[in-house]
Amino acid sequence: MQPEDNHDLSFDEFDEIVNPRPEENDFDRVVEAALSRRGFLGGVLAFGSFTALAGNTAFSVSEAAADRFAFDAIPTNGEDAVTVPAGYKADVMVRWGDPLWSDVPEFDHATRGTSETQARAFGDNTDGMDVFMHEGRTLLVVNNEYTNRDIISVSAVEKRIVDEDDIAKGMMAHGVSVVEIAPIGGVWQYVKDSPYNRRITPKTVMALTGPAAGHDLVKTDADPSGTQALGTWNNCGNGMTPWGTYLACEENFNGYFSAADEAHEVSPELKRYGVSSKDWGYNWAKIDDRFDVSKNPNEPNRAGYVVEIDPTDPNSVPKKRTALGRFKHENAEAVVNNDGRVVVYMGDDERGEFLYRYVSDGKYAPGASTDDLMENGTLFVAKFNEDGTGTWLELTPESTGMSSKAEICIHTRQAGSAVGATTMDRPEWVAANPNAPEVYCALTNNKNRGIKTNAGGDETPVGGPNPREANKFGQIVRWRPDGGDHTASGFAWDLYVLAGNPTAHNDLNAGSENVNANNMFNSPDGLKFDSNGLLWIQTDGNYSNEGDFAGQGNNQMLAGDPVTGEIRRFLVGPKECEVTGLTWSADRRTMFVGIQHPGERGDSHWPEGGNAVPRSAIIAVTREDGGLVG
Ligand code: FEO
Ligand code: CA
Ligand code: CA
Ligand code: CA
Repeated sequence: MQPEDNHDLSFDEFDEIVNPRPEENDFDRVVEAALSRRGFLGGVLAFGSFTALAGNTAFSVSEAAADRFAFDAIPTNGEDAVTVPAGYKADVMVRWGDPLWSDVPEFDHATRGTSETQARAFGDNTDGMDVFMHEGRTLLVVNNEYTNRDIISVSAVEKRIVDEDDIAKGMMAHGVSVVEIAPIGGVWQYVKDSPYNRRITPKTVMALTGPAAGHDLVKTDADPSGTQALGTWNNCGNGMTPWGTYLACEENFNGYFSAADEAHEVSPELKRYGVSSKDWGYNWAKIDDRFDVSKNPNEPNRAGYVVEIDPTDPNSVPKKRTALGRFKHENAEAVVNNDGRVVVYMGDDERGEFLYRYVSDGKYAPGASTDDLMENGTLFVAKFNEDGTGTWLELTPESTGMSSKAEICIHTRQAGSAVGATTMDRPEWVAANPNAPEVYCALTNNKNRGIKTNAGGDETPVGGPNPREANKFGQIVRWRPDGGDHTASGFAWDLYVLAGNPTAHNDLNAGSENVNANNMFNSPDGLKFDSNGLLWIQTDGNYSNEGDFAGQGNNQMLAGDPVTGEIRRFLVGPKECEVTGLTWSADRRTMFVGIQHPGERGDSHWPEGGNAVPRSAIIAVTREDGGLVG
């Protein structure tokens, strides 16, 4: 099957067509799963009363819980617009193709730019982002996850052969954009020609650091030393270190590799990561041999990492931090533990993959060197028990049977399988509550739950934090580390919300008690806490507004109170978009929200309207009275 026929499929769905998983037929296992489902119902239905689960007095309930939602919930809709509550407004701040320097032409709707203009313009498909204050300036760092061929390429729209510049333009629209922003005349705008503006692309030279650096598996023709990597792409969620650097997370890196020789068989190790002889339609191997796995079989081993970027130095060399493992990284939520060690929580977003934790050996001290903190440390993977407890399993050569720490950092999925980690319903963003030792992870959906194994052959039984077969709606799991210590091996967990549709279902697919006809949604993805301790939830789901999803409208953003469990809808995105990426100005009077791929199926002209090409963009959301927004 040609990838070109499949570009409406998600990466995950495409992987599955190329590398089909075995069907599960084990009758005993199905019966066991049904029993565990009953056990789950008995144990975890009391959403919002999780004191019963953990009873840890270290958890502080906010005094102002009743006042925490500074807005009235909005209904859903299917409009080609951004909708926010009364008293709020949303202004577009920066869009795909906006030139970062004044010698670059403005975005051209007829051609959609060239590789040359795109390399010096804001990238496509805005995703994870954060704001950094530096010498009085506001620097916004944003992932540009991927491109949609039918939007970026005129030849694809016109069904002509996609030419080399289209391929190169698509490549240059990936990566990361660093851009200064400022409230000019009271309206947030990006600053052309700022000395901090920078585009990081799939061609930017990076250092490969940590345990995997120099290993044979990362040596390539381009870098026989195995200590460099060229570029980053498919950066999804993000993170921010306590020392003020940005973490870009490489997710579906596999979808860009192909083999000129279609009979080429990729290794089982690459198959585990979804690499195959066919790419997802990007055609990068046609302009760069690095992406031909028959010629450069180790190139995919240089991708799939967390990339640390210093936005305050536009000449800094980004560092791929192999100590944080190699998988389809969603985001990287870093917390400083009570003892000063840095703990980074990370999801691997694929059906039936795992949830990870990194613990640094060294301790963070403001002002002291932080060079070692993402270099030397230990990876753990989560195992969830049915009884509401869980364990972090350490990934070491001893526990995994693998030859070295380097190998664990390259074949991290295989390490997780070796120790029997819990297969999850696609772990997306992880967010740590600033008011409590408590962490949340969006499990977006998983049509294979209880039906097929993951790519490594691990079973995906229904139960625990993944309680529904063929999970269509997703859920958010949360856990509290034992003793409030993020480095502890044990934790207690429950589900914060089981998304669903109570107007279409009256079983588990109705969702948990904090889901109702007015706030329902599907496929939670982006998660971030604000400074008040509200959990913001962004969705990347089915926007058909029909059947199982009737009444759920376009993708959206909601806010949840972690204490009461209440969830309210705050924002509805334009048609066929995903809402992803969230951060705030330093004064907390502006919230920046990412609108990714409006019109991915051809039915949007947002944000410019008329017959304009739809463009991913970041919006600035403010209160009309100038009040705080998080
Ligand atoms: Fe790029 Fe898992 O979302
Ligand atoms: Ca995501
Ligand atoms: Ca998603
Ligand atoms: Ca997306």
